[in-house]
Amino acid sequence: MINEQKRYFEPTSKFGKGGIKSMKPWQWALCAFFFLLIVIIIPIALTNKKHELKQYDCKDGEFTILESIPQELDLESANLTHKGWIKLIDSATKTLDIACFYMTLSEGSDYPDANGSFGASVFDAIKRAADRGVKIRIAENKNNYETDNIDYKYLLGYSKNIKVKILDFTKLIGAGILHTKFMVVDKTNFYVGSANMDWRSLAQVKELGILIFNCECLARDIGKIFSVYWQFGNTTKKLDQHPNFDDDLATQWNIGNPASVTLNSKKNSVFLASSPPEFSPTGRTQDLDAILHIINNAESSLSLEVMDYMPAYLYQKGNVYWPTLDTAIRNASFHRNVDIRFLIGKWNHTRPEMYQFFKSLNELSTVTVKLFIVPDRKGKQIPFTRVNHAKYAVSEKQVFIDTSNWSADYFMSTAGVSFNSYHKQIINQVQDRFDRDWNSKYTHDLSILPDL
Ligand SMILES: *[C@@H]1O[C@H](CO)[C@@H](O)[C@H](O)[C@H]1NC(C)=O
Ligand SMILES: *[C@@H]1O[C@H](CO)[C@@H](O)[C@H](O)[C@H]1NC(C)=O
Ligand SMILES: *[C@@H]1O[C@H](CO)[C@@H](O)[C@H](O)[C@H]1NC(C)=O
Ligand SMILES: *[C@@H]1O[C@H](CO)[C@@H](O)[C@H](O)[C@H]1NC(C)=O
Ligand SMILES: *[C@@H]1O[C@H](CO)[C@@H](O)[C@H](O)[C@H]1NC(C)=O
Ligand SMILES: *[C@@H]1O[C@H](CO)[C@@H](O)[C@H](O)[C@H]1NC(C)=O
Repeated sequence: MINEQKRYFEPTSKFGKGGIKSMKPWQWALCAFFFLLIVIIIPIALTNKKHELKQYDCKDGEFTILESIPQELDLESANLTHKGWIKLIDSATKTLDIACFYMTLSEGSDYPDANGSFGASVFDAIKRAADRGVKIRIAENKNNYETDNIDYKYLLGYSKNIKVKILDFTKLIGAGILHTKFMVVDKTNFYVGSANMDWRSLAQVKELGILIFNCECLARDIGKIFSVYWQFGNTTKKLDQHPNFDDDLATQWNIGNPASVTLNSKKNSVFLASSPPEFSPTGRTQDLDAILHIINNAESSLSLEVMDYMPAYLYQKGNVYWPTLDTAIRNASFHRNVDIRFLIGKWNHTRPEMYQFFKSLNELSTVTVKLFIVPDRKGKQIPFTRVNHAKYAVSEKQVFIDTSNWSADYFMSTAGVSFNSYHKQIINQVQDRFDRDWNSKYTHDLSILPDL
């Protein structure tokens, strides 16, 4: 840089002996050009850059922890998922991007006595957004059950503002699903968490997620994850181990360099991680590294709540053991004496082969494993409901809010996203929800399980 300037501004040799008076018109033109460059163009470029950074600084960011509490469950929650979602969707003026496993919101209208209206009202909010000209994109997993496809097919016919792409993981990477659940609005507001775009997830299943308003920095970052899904949607070509991505899908925010953002008036760091590895442009932290990070950094306390836990591959033939996560938990207990409380969601479809691992972890002196069981509702049961589907971890210094079950497949071949932060208020609020659950009448000791 310095050498370049020297080269351009060695005037005597260029302008000759006569100095400035004998300058030719072309020399004047050259001079004027550099003058413009220095005095006008460079400052403008620098100001723009500053402006860009300022624009993404989330000074007025707000977070809300959203929960779904199954009907009739006696747990208080200030902010319910469907209310937060409607607020989010109604805030859209330009764009709404939805990443989901499947969408069965409208079906809620068939179950009025089961709070099915929660889902139906979210579906109506999506239609309202399309009506007012919001461009809506939906990235959805390829689902074999036609009932899982009713909503997106309806929406495609409903408005030309709605576009859908389907991700076929079997073709793309040989296994897995799009298991993510998030929504991004106007590159400014977003939700990420455990709730599926299913009326059941709003009324009959227990869920936890985070809603962020006015945070362009993070909303644009999760938008990059959406762009990856959009790039692979409706394609069938098998992916390379390291597919090519546009440069603008790379992220600067990750485990080593979290974004510093102001949420609810307090500044702290946040980063978003994703899985599987093939879906990660430069800079993106893997979901697995994010969960290992919170476990490995816990010093005094670690609270874990998840629906399914198994140190193995669930969807491979035979028994394929996978110790990575389990070892980290055991190490936190044995090596660092961390007080670990682990709450697992048990329901009618929990695989009994998981029990041996719950029991074995529970034997460690600083680990307690318990089961959260959602009792039946009054009257007729709705299949595949009444379960604690939340997936998160909170330590004395960090919080991890996830969309994946904790088994190998989810980190290796399934698309998921986690929200990671050191923000005290987020940590405290999530810890409060955990403590409420842990001390509730729905939490049971492992002694209720059959003997092995
Ligand atoms: C969360 O709940 C509080 C108290 O009920 C309410 O004032 C606020 O608007 C809610 N936030 C969202 C995002 O729904
Ligand atoms: C959910 O359903 C129950 C009836 O089982 C009803 O009492 C309750 O008001 C409903 N909740 C809302 C928010 O509509
Ligand atoms: C993607 O494929 C689905 C059908 O498989 C189709 O309905 C949809 O319009 C396609 N999306 C785009 C953007 O081409
Ligand atoms: C266990 O934790 C310690 C300290 O936190 C770390 O140095 C060590 O590498 C860990 N071991 C394993 C097997 O993860
Ligand atoms: C779970 O199974 C038990 C025993 O078969 C049954 O009574 C109960 O209704 C089932 N619960 C749900 C939500 O399907
Ligand atoms: C994991 O989570 C999904 C829904 O999020 C659930 O349907 C599934 O049964 C869970 N368990 C396993 C073992 O995959």
